[in-house]
Amino acid sequence: MGGFYIIIGPPGAGKGTQATILAEKCKIPHISSGNIFRENLQNRTELGKRAKEYMDKGELVPDDITIQMVINRLSQQDCENGALLDGFPRTPLQAEALSAFLAEKGKQIEAVLLIEVPAEELIDRLSGRWTCKAEGHVYHLKYNPPKKDGICDIDGSPLYQRDDDKRETVEQRIKVYKDQTAPLVEYYESKGLLKKVDGSKTIEEVTSALMNAIKC
Ligand code: AP5
Repeated sequence: MGGFYIIIGPPGAGKGTQATILAEKCKIPHISSGNIFRENLQNRTELGKRAKEYMDKGELVPDDITIQMVINRLSQQDCENGALLDGFPRTPLQAEALSAFLAEKGKQIEAVLLIEVPAEELIDRLSGRWTCKAEGHVYHLKYNPPKKDGICDIDGSPLYQRDDDKRETVEQRIKVYKDQTAPLVEYYESKGLLKKVDGSKTIEEVTSALMNAIKC
């Protein structure tokens, strides 16, 4: 059926984990701004080099770079009928750019899914996270271990720990979320688009709550 959906929440809330599952169930592409930046980093592109300066410090990459990158991705054929956005928008300017882009195509955002998790749990989740090099699939040593140590179940590529998952960088990312991204929650709530889900439950329970909240 398709449609445009946003998953929002603090670092480590489970956006990537849930977006991968939901995108498959809803048959729409999963567009993660963080994954696109990391692909560019691995491929040593100019965009990757510029983004790294900010990502390593736990800061947001400037709006102009980020907006152009995500709008380019959304302009591709596979997003014609919808997409699940993970990590974008993260600032009011990004939210406005997204609405303008969709309005121009006669489309709209169907729902904004907020995954809520207490701060102390976020640090535990990010310190045990392992990410796949090829596609960014995520695992957790305790909560969602891979079948074979250090190897992605889905594509067999090696797993690594993200540079920005160091404790001090995680704390900065949480602060940046509260200062710059949390205001978007109110913005989408005022538009009647916000659906809140308790992200502290198990991965399966969070998936069912999200699936109940949307009609994709
Ligand atoms: P990004 O990659 O978007 O990172 P983030 O928002 O900080 O989110 P994370 O990927 O850390 O967490 P997640 O919520 O996806 O959790 P996950 O599913 O992995 O951004 C990184 C950087 O890129 C930013 O700091 C910024 O510099 C830049 N950037 C990106 N987008 C930008 C934008 N729009 N504007 C400007 N800059 C931008 O889960 C975490 C762990 O928990 C995993 O180990 C997982 O297995 C486990 N887990 C998940 N769910 C559960 C559960 N229910 N129970 C137990 N464990 C769970």
